[in-house]
Amino acid sequence: MNKELKTRVVNAYSERISGKPKGQETRKNPSAELNVIQPESCCDDCCSSDSFDEDTREVMDKLDIQSFGCGNPVGLSSIVAGDVVVDLGSGAGLDCIIAGKKVGPAGRVVGIDMSDAMIAKAVENVAKLSLQDIVTFRKGDIEDLPVEDKFATMVISNCVIVLAPDKQRVFDEAFRILRQGGRMIVSDVVSDKDIPDELVRDEKLFVNCLSGATRVDRYFGMLHKSGFGTVEELERRTYGKLNHGQGGIELYSVTVRAVK
Ligand SMILES: C[S@@+](CC[C@H](N)C(=O)[O-])C[C@H]1O[C@@H](n2cnc3c(N)ncnc32)[C@H](O)[C@@H]1O
Repeated sequence: MNKELKTRVVNAYSERISGKPKGQETRKNPSAELNVIQPESCCDDCCSSDSFDEDTREVMDKLDIQSFGCGNPVGLSSIVAGDVVVDLGSGAGLDCIIAGKKVGPAGRVVGIDMSDAMIAKAVENVAKLSLQDIVTFRKGDIEDLPVEDKFATMVISNCVIVLAPDKQRVFDEAFRILRQGGRMIVSDVVSDKDIPDELVRDEKLFVNCLSGATRVDRYFGMLHKSGFGTVEELERRTYGKLNHGQGGIELYSVTVRAVK
C-alpha cells in the first residue's frame, strides 16, 4: 500500500506544478468535495499571504513560484551563514531559496523531492536568482534519503512528512544525516486523535495532507525514538477538521524543532 500511496502523491504534485501559471491555477475548494472543514490547504494552494514573512514575500513577488507549505520553517529556523541545510520535499524550491540566501556562499542547501516535475521547476527558480552554486536538488524519497551521514547542520521540511506513509523512517533518516548538535525544523500537519485506516486509505484525503496526519503526541514520540533530545513546538495553527466520529478529528499545522 505504501508504494501505491507514494505513486499517487508524486503524480498529484507533478500535476499540480505542471502547466499552471500563477493566477490560472484550478482554484478548487478541496473542503467541498472532501469530508472536511478546512480553513486553509497547503496542498491545493498555500496558506493565506499573511502567513509569509518579508523574505518569502519578496521571493514570491520576483518569481512565479508556488508554495504548498503549511508553515514557515525557514523563518523559525535561525539559519546562519555557512549552514548546510537539507529540505525534505522541496517542491518548487521556495524554502530552499530563502534558506540559500541565508546560508550564503559559505553554505549549501540541498532540496530532496521525488517528483521530477517539482525538481525541474525548483532548478528553474533557483537559476533565475543565480543561486545554483548554493542551492541544488536531488531526486529521492525522504524515507530513504540520498544524502550521506552527518552531512547537514539543519534539516527543514514544510508540509511533506504528513504525506510519508512511514514517518518513523523519515525521522530516522533526518537524524542520520544531521551532525551532532544539528537541528530539524519542520512544519507539518498533526491531529488530536488517531486517524482511522479507512481515512488514511482515502486517496484524496491523503494526498491533500489531511488523513496522513499523526496524533501530535505520537509525532513527538517518534522524534524522540529516532534519537532527538530536545523536541519543542514553536507554533500551532488550526488547520481543519475531519468530519469523522463524535466531535470530528482536529487537524493542526505545527512547527516543531528537534535537536540531535
Ligand atoms: C505539499 S508539497 C510541499 C512542497 C514544499 N515543501 C512547499 O512548502 O511548497 C509536498 C512535496 O513533497 C514531495 N513528496 C511527497 N512525498 C515525498 C517523499 N516520500 N519523498 C520525497 N518527496 C516527497 C511532493 O512531490 C511535493 O513536492
